[in-house]
Amino acid sequence: MREVFLFITLIANNVERVYIFDTTLRDGEQVPGCQLNTIEKIEVAKALEMLGVDVIEAGFPISSPGDFNSIIEISKAVTWPVICALTRAVEKDIEVAAESLKYAKRKRIHTGIGTSDPHIKYKFNSNREEIIERAIKAVTYARNFVDDVEFYAEDAGRTENEYLARVVQAVVNAGATVVNIPDTTGYCFPHEYGAKIKYLVDNVDLKNAILSTHCHQDLGMATANSISGVINGARQVEVTINGIGERAGNSALEEVVMALKSHKNLGYETNINTAKIYSTSRLVSSLMNMPIQPNKAIVGRNAFAHSSGIHQDGVLKNVQTYEIIDPKDVGIDDNSIILTARSGRAALKSRLSLLGVRLEDEELDKVYEKFLILADKKKDIKDEDILMLVGKESKKSRIKIDYLQVTSGIGLRNVASIGLDIAGEHFEATGSGNGPVDAAIKAVKDIIRREIVIEEFLIQAINRGSDDVGKVHMQVEHEGSLYYGFSANTDIVSASVEAFVDAVNKFVE
Ligand code: KIV
Ligand code: ZN
Repeated sequence: MREVFLFITLIANNVERVYIFDTTLRDGEQVPGCQLNTIEKIEVAKALEMLGVDVIEAGFPISSPGDFNSIIEISKAVTWPVICALTRAVEKDIEVAAESLKYAKRKRIHTGIGTSDPHIKYKFNSNREEIIERAIKAVTYARNFVDDVEFYAEDAGRTENEYLARVVQAVVNAGATVVNIPDTTGYCFPHEYGAKIKYLVDNVDLKNAILSTHCHQDLGMATANSISGVINGARQVEVTINGIGERAGNSALEEVVMALKSHKNLGYETNINTAKIYSTSRLVSSLMNMPIQPNKAIVGRNAFAHSSGIHQDGVLKNVQTYEIIDPKDVGIDDNSIILTARSGRAALKSRLSLLGVRLEDEELDKVYEKFLILADKKKDIKDEDILMLVGKESKKSRIKIDYLQVTSGIGLRNVASIGLDIAGEHFEATGSGNGPVDAAIKAVKDIIRREIVIEEFLIQAINRGSDDVGKVHMQVEHEGSLYYGFSANTDIVSASVEAFVDAVNKFVE
């Protein structure tokens, strides 16, 4: 029904629809240190649904049981967007993808193979004709499981146009509904990428299939290339929130969407509710522990800050002098909501949601009480103060770790001694367990004496090497509610105990 309504509106306004394919949870999540657990992925997927993306690429299911399981859970949690699973042009991959999509209300398999000469020669030790055969086989096989099959011609950016057109024609004939033309290495210039899309539009019988852009940022041209692709006939763009992704990243959703929106005269429309861009950006940044550079287009801290006297003067006279986008259009409403002791719960809730924090009513009430006490003492309430109130700022946590000492090793007992500072009072305990983390957490529990069950415990390395920083996500259950804790430390035992204490700090009074 929603689709029909949108279609009628588009015809009436003579604008063309560009589909937004979000790959934050696949290409974005491939970035070292950005891995999310299933609960976090569901949170991002729900935010993407609210944002209005058409397709969520939820993972690469053959790559790990975690990815497979996340696609299952995201499929259950999300209703509107198409859920897409990535595969190689390999039958087993496609079977696993189809299985992972079994709960999706609308599903797509995204299969493909490298088509550039370096890929054909060095990656596959193959030749052009064989690659076309493999592409046809993969699409035909995937169509046995789903009606919606997208094919990617990996490294299409460096694939000769004539050969690329043959590949695209072959996969469209085999039943591909979307054909993705990735500039995998971020090599193309915008005019070159646009010409590639135009060549395909002019030389392939696309039937009902559409072409998709998928541009990487290695030379800083991902957004320009995506827009050039759209102008030349692509009707889907593959993007990530904040432009995160392999190496220098992918084309950023917020940039492509706002570029199309700002240049209305081009005649393109997306389904994105742009007012949700900022909060989605903050959510992804905080869950992935990936800070946004202050001068990042659209979502950076300084994106709408005018600091020079000349600019300030101009903006004060008329914002149109230096602003091409109203910050409110992307959900930045800093100026209209100044938090003071007279602000209500709604204002606090709105600011929290801008910061990517969602609270249940009961939790909001508690934070609101603390907020009023703070606002009475402090006139200038900053975003950091708000985050501190909801427990995102560990400096002000009620429980702090004074010291932690563990003994463990082959042939040794695992023993931990811990010293905690609880609201200024010092406590100590020792514990033993089946490993150093178990021993340390038992010691913490011995001090705080609460019924706490660890529901999820995830350790990830950020880079590589024995000197790497480990990221720990922990979900604990206390009196029927779940609380999330996080820490990063070169010592994974310390990171685990810190994450546990971070979670406990969310509910201790
Ligand atoms: O960049 C790329 O080519 C990709 C494909 C797997 C779609 O991410
Ligand atoms: Zn990619």
